[in-house]
This record gives sequence, C-alpha cells and structure tokens, in this order.
Amino acid sequence: MKNCNNIFKITDETLKIAKERIENGELVAFPTETVYGLGANAFLDEAILSVYAKKGRPGDNPLIVHVHKDYDISTLVFEDKPYQKLIKDAFMPGPITLVYKSKNKVSPLVSCGLETLAIRIPKSLSAQRFLKAVNLPIAAPSANVSKHTSPVTAQHVYDDFKGEISMILDGGRCEGGIESTVVDVTGEYPVILRKGLITAEMIKKVCGKCEYATENSALNSRSPGTKYRHYCPSTKTLLFGKDEINLAIEKYNETIKSGKTACIMCENSVAEKLKEFNVLNLGLTGEEMASRLYYYLHEGEKFDLLIGIKFDADTELKQSVENRFIKAYS
Ligand code: TXA
Ligand code: MG
Repeated sequence: MKNCNNIFKITDETLKIAKERIENGELVAFPTETVYGLGANAFLDEAILSVYAKKGRPGDNPLIVHVHKDYDISTLVFEDKPYQKLIKDAFMPGPITLVYKSKNKVSPLVSCGLETLAIRIPKSLSAQRFLKAVNLPIAAPSANVSKHTSPVTAQHVYDDFKGEISMILDGGRCEGGIESTVVDVTGEYPVILRKGLITAEMIKKVCGKCEYATENSALNSRSPGTKYRHYCPSTKTLLFGKDEINLAIEKYNETIKSGKTACIMCENSVAEKLKEFNVLNLGLTGEEMASRLYYYLHEGEKFDLLIGIKFDADTELKQSVENRFIKAYS
C-alpha cells in the first residue's frame, strides 16, 4: 500500500464528512457491487465539470445518476411505461442502470444535453449507506482515469488519480466486478446499451421482450460511451486465440529470457495446463470471470507483459466479460 491518507473506512463520522463535501461540490469516490464510482452532486454544474476534468472524459459521454433505494426517482425522470416498473422491481437495487426520459432537474451536464437520464440504485450496502447519508442524486462514472481499467478496490482509485481525490470511501473489493448493464427504457421495449451482469434473457423473463443494441447500430449510438477505448491496463499487452497457446508461451519465454517479467490471463481449463507459468486464472463460470477480470487486469500491470488468451463466450454473462476483455487488450 502506498501513502493513502485519502482512503477512509465507512463510519457515521466519515459519512458526515462525505455529505458535507458532496454538498460543497467536491468529489467523493465510493464502492458499489460493480466497480468504484467517482461521485458528484448531480445538481451542481461545477461538480459535474470537475468529474469530466479529473477523469479526462470526453464531453459527450453522459454520466449515471445514483440514488438510494428509498429515493423517489419520479422526481427526476418520467416513469410512464408499465414494463419499466417490472424491470425496476425485479432488478433494483442491483447491477443495472435504466435510461429514462429526463425531467431535467439535475445539471444538464450530467446527460451531455441528451433528453434522457440514466438512473442506478446500487445494491452494495456500502453504496446504500453513502447514498442514504447524502440523500442527493450522485452522478458517478467509474472512478478511473478515462480509458484505464475500472477500479474494484479503493487502492485502485487512489493509484489512478495519484491521490488527487481527497476522499475515497473504502468498502473492500467489489464483488460483481464489471459495470452495470445499461438499459434504455424510453422505447416500446427495453434495449440493452451496455452488457453486464443482468442479461437480456433475465430481463425478457420479467417483461417479455429485450434486445441488445449492438445488433442494430442505430440503437447503439444511443449510448455514446460504448464507442470509446476502455479498460486498458498500463502495461504491454498481447492477445491470443485459444488455439494459439503455443505462440503465447513462445512470447512469454522470449520476454523472460530478455530479463523482463510476464504473466498469462486465461480461463480455468487453460490455466490448468500452464501451471509452471505466472498465471491469472479467470475461473470457470461467467460470475467468477466477471468478478476477477478488472482485479486481475490491475494485477497484470505489475508485469512487463500481460498476455491474454481468449475464451469461449458460450453464455450471455461470458459475452459481457468478453466484451471488456477484448477491449482491454486492443
Ligand atoms: O456499474 C456502473 O455502471 C458504474 C458504477 C460506478 O455505478 N458506473 C459506470 O459509469 O460504469 P461510466 O460512466 O463508466 O459508464 C456509464 C455508461 C456509459 O457507457 C454512458 O455512455 C452510459 O452509461 N450512459 C449514461 N447516461 C446515458 C444516457 N442518458 N443515455 C445513454 N447512455 C448513457
Ligand atoms: Mg467507465
């Protein structure tokens, strides 16, 4: 651990300080069940501007607003479609974000001038405690510098901003591990703009119909964030197919011979065959892979070369993980 005076345990006292800071327009990083968020008071233009500036985030990529589970979101957005309630009741609080038509009550900078507003009610008790304490809508992107891997520990947040975030609430390692599923609920039926832990199949079960925007590029443009580079570790990376393991080993050995360090990130069945190498084993199930991916991308940065080996994305959840995995290595 480096010098990290800005990392705070979550107590009644630190939450009181967090509330004051948020009210004053300062930024507070907080844990959720997916990744850490960089929180700002959604009513204050200045606070939102500083989120964009600190992250180096493109000005056309809107932010998600986070609220506690008892917050009346009808003060912020129009809940005018019966299926919206079905999805909300089934999955919120949880790792899902719903994009509604906005009532334009928060700073227009949150949604970059779009007519919509993305709402998330995280499930993590730490997130709920923070959101309840501030009792304000909190605009929060993932708490990483733009393009870098999303943070799943307080230390990741600290390291990314070199200590520049004055308050990071520490809730331990995020369990979910990848960002929330973003679902547009402004149309006749829900459309997934960003894949995540909640899948189309799960949503279909509660309201009959759900599509992925990636199947239709016109819909995909509704989520500006998906077009940018993402999740990249700060070390050299190489990606191989699962039938190219020998090539990966060759590169690994070359690197070691030249006096540098290397490791291989892969799923469980490949890891079993590579026991004599430095391996980051993503595991077997989609849940395991999701919860390990960002943590291991950060671990992999400690090596001079981080090799990735592709895996079969034979479930929807594995496809959500694969989406990030490929972007991280490109
Ligand atoms: O799990 C998560 O969603 C985390 C935690 C902190 O809640 N947050 C997160 O935020 O991943 P961020 O800013 O890294 O990603 C937000 C995504 C982007 O792809 C953005 O384009 C999309 O949500 N988004 C936000 N508001 C939108 C809107 N009004 N319409 C369409 N897409 C929107
Ligand atoms: Mg992000």
